[in-house]
Amino acid sequence: MEVAAWVIFIITALCIHWSCGQEPTETIQKLKNVEETVTSATQAATPNELDVATAINEFGFKLLVKMMKQKKNENLVISPSGIAGVLAMALLGTVGTTYSEVAETLGFSQDIIVNRKNHEQFGALLQALNTNVSSKTLYADAIFVDDNTQLREIYRKYLNDVYGGDVLSTDFQQAEQATLSINEWVRNHTEGKIETLFAEPLPPVTKVVLLSTLYFKGQWDQPFVPDATMKLPFNRTKDEVMADLMLNFGKFRYSFASRHGLHILAMPYNDSETTMYALMPIFPNELSILDLMESLDYKKIDEIINGMSVKQCVVRFPKMDIRSTVKLQDALQTMGIRSIFTPGLANFALMVNSNMVVNKTEEEIITSIDQGQIQTKGVTDLVNNLPNPGIHIDYIVHDVKMTINEYGTEAVAATGALLSRSAQRFYTDSPFYMFIRNEKTKLVTFSAVIFDPTVPVA
Ligand SMILES: *[C@@H]1O[C@H](CO)[C@@H](O)[C@H](O)[C@H]1NC(C)=O
Ligand SMILES: *[C@@H]1O[C@H](CO)[C@@H](O)[C@H](O)[C@H]1NC(C)=O
Ligand SMILES: *[C@@H]1O[C@H](CO)[C@@H](O)[C@H](O)[C@H]1NC(C)=O
Ligand SMILES: *[C@@H]1O[C@H](CO)[C@@H](O)[C@H](O)[C@H]1NC(C)=O
Ligand SMILES: *[C@@H]1O[C@H](CO)[C@@H](O)[C@H](O)[C@H]1NC(C)=O
Repeated sequence: MEVAAWVIFIITALCIHWSCGQEPTETIQKLKNVEETVTSATQAATPNELDVATAINEFGFKLLVKMMKQKKNENLVISPSGIAGVLAMALLGTVGTTYSEVAETLGFSQDIIVNRKNHEQFGALLQALNTNVSSKTLYADAIFVDDNTQLREIYRKYLNDVYGGDVLSTDFQQAEQATLSINEWVRNHTEGKIETLFAEPLPPVTKVVLLSTLYFKGQWDQPFVPDATMKLPFNRTKDEVMADLMLNFGKFRYSFASRHGLHILAMPYNDSETTMYALMPIFPNELSILDLMESLDYKKIDEIINGMSVKQCVVRFPKMDIRSTVKLQDALQTMGIRSIFTPGLANFALMVNSNMVVNKTEEEIITSIDQGQIQTKGVTDLVNNLPNPGIHIDYIVHDVKMTINEYGTEAVAATGALLSRSAQRFYTDSPFYMFIRNEKTKLVTFSAVIFDPTVPVA
């Protein structure tokens, strides 16, 4: 068996940005397609799909906690849906142990037919994220394949149907040109916010690059008071730092969950389908954010959210520019995704044809899975016996950029509520957890733990 080095970079670039009013000039060409898929995906929504959303959110929460333990007291910003998006694209092409590990970690079924249904549900949710109303969410994914590598036609088609992924071929021997194209694709799908994903040319042994990007831009439903932002102490555990804390007040959904030692605030965007939740310990000196997070899981958080009620609140929240570039393989390995990174153990038999000659028997087996025309019993053995193309994932890069500010002026109108005696105080003046959830699909598009809101953007 020929052993080729197989390098897949997985990038989920997420960019949160909201600026004062003007929209950047639009360059995205795929809007028509996006809008069409949104409509059909929304119509297809069934209660089943929410189970996939919960599984993905649970995966994202666990991943963040693993990363917190590996990178003590560092800001972390990730896009759980974006990471799950590329892992799902990889899962679609795997068999054997590689398949079992990824399916298990994502919470997808081990049963190959049901697993395909999970892909369809997740794909529909990801497409349904795309909106371009008063806020903008753009999800995109793509696969770059080396000219000399034969992607299975069936994989290409399924990927495109389910995840809407572009398939682009390139010559990784021409490392510089290939890297430029990938950087350009990323730039095109993040409204120019991630300009140079790869500063160095990719190694010529690269065979496939999987990419997913998630861009979000929104306006607060209740903007912060522009002139009230001021430098206030933020306790970043080892010491205090002066941070720009914005001010807001008025009616917000809030919950004081003393049983869990936390309180949580919901700050909606003005698109009526996206919400940012901020959660922190009630007594940070007694319960650290890490200990709090380790005592929770996504289901508990979801229950707490369902119990929130509207309260008068006074809010202090940092104005931030955060960028986080991380390699995910260590954290994913601690979650059980191992063989995919191991030469010889990784098996992408459903993604890549090991031979340049198309084998009709193999193609027929795979087609029958995709069409759900075959019984699970037996089919697993068949696919596990497909020849292993001998390729593996080299590493996974995740790059997120985020800007949070106060936009706008409307908040002044609410002055009367400021000194309400019963107001709940929600001051994020020590490390906290926050996430953005799309309320239509229930997917957490982005989540972060902030230990220091003043870290400069590299
Ligand atoms: C978003 O919608 C506006 C008008 O509704 C349109 O001008 C713009 O091109 C759209 N942009 C994207 C990226 O879909
Ligand atoms: C959302 O906020 C922006 C900026 O203030 C405004 O232009 C837009 O009309 C708002 N949309 C809705 C639905 O309130
Ligand atoms: C990026 O966008 C430009 C302009 O729309 C287009 O010409 C180019 O082909 C795109 N590049 C990639 C790699 O998608
Ligand atoms: C900051 O937080 C740490 C750990 O929670 C605590 O030990 C310390 O007393 C706090 N400092 C201040 C000034 O509150
Ligand atoms: C086609 O694939 C099947 C299953 O992997 C294998 O048994 C068979 O030998 C292959 N045929 C050729 C001509 O390679």
